[in-house]
Amino acid sequence: MAEVVIVQDESEAGDLIAGSILSLIEGRPDAVLGLATGSTPLPVYRALARRVAQEQLDVSRVRGFALDEYVGLPAGHPESYRSVIMREVVEPLGLTPSRIHVPNGDLATIQTASDEYEDAIIAAGGVDLQILGIGRSGHIGFNEPGSSFASLTRVKTLTESTRADNARFFDSPDDVPMHCITQGLGTILRARHLVLLAFGSAKAHAVAAAVEGPVTASQPGSAIQLHPHVTVVIDEAAASEL
Ligand code: GLP
Repeated sequence: MAEVVIVQDESEAGDLIAGSILSLIEGRPDAVLGLATGSTPLPVYRALARRVAQEQLDVSRVRGFALDEYVGLPAGHPESYRSVIMREVVEPLGLTPSRIHVPNGDLATIQTASDEYEDAIIAAGGVDLQILGIGRSGHIGFNEPGSSFASLTRVKTLTESTRADNARFFDSPDDVPMHCITQGLGTILRARHLVLLAFGSAKAHAVAAAVEGPVTASQPGSAIQLHPHVTVVIDEAAASEL
């Protein structure tokens, strides 16, 4: 059963998880972090950046793997997850860019990108702490409903609801890519500690399904029930259907 922590607000969640990550790094300076994008993990990255600066911590050896990436965006597009991870995580924390990996969504090399990403995670010794958000549809990473619990990194088609949710980051809804490359649920379940965050009532249903609903591919978040070490950090609104 996941440990569920109900916090007052996003900033308390950010401080709490930043503390866990810093303890991990203290014991293991080259710890491997699993990085999520979306708005949910931003308070964690902000709290981490603040503490790293205040305490002048050396995080140059920390390694990281992002969960997912859009397929086919031009290199350097500001909303590619590579750009977002560089802007929101690598630069503010002062991580070493070459130690931070994002799946390669370049169309020219997409055939081999999934296997290469899995190999890189294994070569790093696996992910120590995986940060996760959850979509309204229950997706984690970009594993939409119907994804196999054994799935590894692969190319997927985005659902219309996820494209609509993510349209806010693009000039027009039509600019949201149709495809993505995402770690699979099986990849995510290999991480040693999963930390799932969610805020607001729009996530309440997905949170309840993930934490205490039936374990089913129609709710990808429910895969967390198969993992022995999960921390769920949510506010009152996101906890309202538990
Ligand atoms: C995106 C990402 C997910 C993220 C989810 C929720 O589709 N691929 O990793 O968890 O949306 O996003 P947000 O945190 O902005 O609500």
